[in-house]
Amino acid sequence: MAPDSSIPQGPRHVAIIMDGNGRWAQSRGRPRLFGHHAGAKRVKEIVRACVPLNVKYLTIYAFSTENWKRTQSEVAGLMSLFRQYIRKEARNLQKEGVRVRFIGDRMKLDKKLQSLMDELEELTSENTKVNLTIAINYGGRDEVARAIKRMAFDIQDGKVAPETVDEQTLTGYLDTHVLPDPDLVIRTSGEARISNFLLWQSAYAEYEFVDTLWPDFSEEEFQKVVNSYGSRNRRFGAVSA
Ligand code: IPE
Ligand code: IPE
Ligand code: MG
Repeated sequence: MAPDSSIPQGPRHVAIIMDGNGRWAQSRGRPRLFGHHAGAKRVKEIVRACVPLNVKYLTIYAFSTENWKRTQSEVAGLMSLFRQYIRKEARNLQKEGVRVRFIGDRMKLDKKLQSLMDELEELTSENTKVNLTIAINYGGRDEVARAIKRMAFDIQDGKVAPETVDEQTLTGYLDTHVLPDPDLVIRTSGEARISNFLLWQSAYAEYEFVDTLWPDFSEEEFQKVVNSYGSRNRRFGAVSA
């Protein structure tokens, strides 16, 4: 039976720019890293909230290609937090049926973090309940540039005929090649920009900018934003019926 178009469909893929950890900590007179730790706790809750909402794909922006510009101590603290998060959460994620993937350029991350990422992907590779994708050292422009580089080598090797290259071909070379495009992109903390997140993939995404700082972004607010998506009219360039 064809889906009834009068029933609002929820987003299958939600992507989140988790912003505002630093301001959250500073407003409490605490160091920025305190905010990042509080933010990591939120991730757990939001992943769990995806199941009843039927959000099958959740993609979260944890560290951008531009975030290396921060102080050495903040960067080191974030890298250590990522290692800690993976070590601590691996078993829970596995138990809850979450399949974890990472996107971004891993080569620039420390070897220990890289191997923890590989292990977690491998451990959870059979899970199907929720697909959690974590973007670390991710930049949309960098991803497209890396994709084109790989495609260029394949063209040189005769594996791809240049005249056949189209949108689909490039999509196939992106880090996200196994994921559907995001339906809804949420950014917390009141900033209305996308900061190099999923540039190619979000061409037709719906955006929601909320003022809440990421460590305060509750499951209830997430539910509210996801549910409000159902009332949007996505036309993809066509005229609605
Ligand atoms: C988002 O919070 C997390 C990362 C970018 C790693 P911020 O650290 O950007 O927090 P604000 O924007 O300074 O408040
Ligand atoms: C975007 O937040 C990156 C992440 C959430 C990981 P930023 O705080 O780095 O973005 P800008 O600097 O405000 O654009
Ligand atoms: Mg920020």
